Amino acid sequence: METKTEATTTFLTRPYLPPLEEFLPYLAQIWESRRLTNGGPFHQQFEEALREYLGVPHVCLFANGTLALITALQALRITGEVITTPYTFAATTHALLWNGIKPVFVDIRRDTCNLDEEQVEAAISPRTTAILPVHCYGNPCAGERLQQIADTYGIKLIYDAAHAFGVTLDGRSLLALGDLSVLSFHATKVFNTFEGGAIVCHDAKLKQRIDYLKNFGFADEVTVVAPGINGKMNEFQA
Ligand SMILES: Cc1ncc(COP(=O)(O)O)c(C=O)c1O
Repeated sequence: METKTEATTTFLTRPYLPPLEEFLPYLAQIWESRRLTNGGPFHQQFEEALREYLGVPHVCLFANGTLALITALQALRITGEVITTPYTFAATTHALLWNGIKPVFVDIRRDTCNLDEEQVEAAISPRTTAILPVHCYGNPCAGERLQQIADTYGIKLIYDAAHAFGVTLDGRSLLALGDLSVLSFHATKVFNTFEGGAIVCHDAKLKQRIDYLKNFGFADEVTVVAPGINGKMNEFQA
């Protein structure tokens, strides 16, 4: 039996890595400062650089995209039922289930593989609190129509934008859509931090709540304002 080696394997994708010699000086800085995590200098620099690069008002970094999704649902206090797509990575649905929310699947469009916006209204019930579409493979969802539906029914619109890093439509970032968007920086993604993720949101108050929630609910060293989780990105990832 032939063993698969690097030479005989055809890679569909491979993670992007910078030259090791460019990475090592950053590691040296971490060794010197002993700031390994908890919003250290690299975390702060990366969050700001990403905010500028993506052209968005607020970025909250996470250890991975799944924790970002779970926290995003908590931050907006989503409950009951959420309309979502069956054609996605498992984490989209699992984030709902980990919050005790019932996923209500609506079929996808053939052209984009995204949630079919014209089937969403028929799935809305009195328990529906949000729509969770995915920009599948970076194909933009029908943002305008979905927002119209969310506004009509007074529900939230949360994008799983794990595949949509840096994607623009008519010169506008997809991350400007909805109440917030969640990114993944997993090794398989266009842009990676080994593991990693972020929530992109539009107002400072929501960013603050997300930042508390991802850090055990700590508002300061002695005040816990909510039952949080540990979703922090560390200095090595940043
Ligand atoms: C659509 C989608 N949502 C969520 C995730 C979860 O992201 P992560 O692997 O960073 O937890 C992924 C990829 O892994 C994904 O493809």
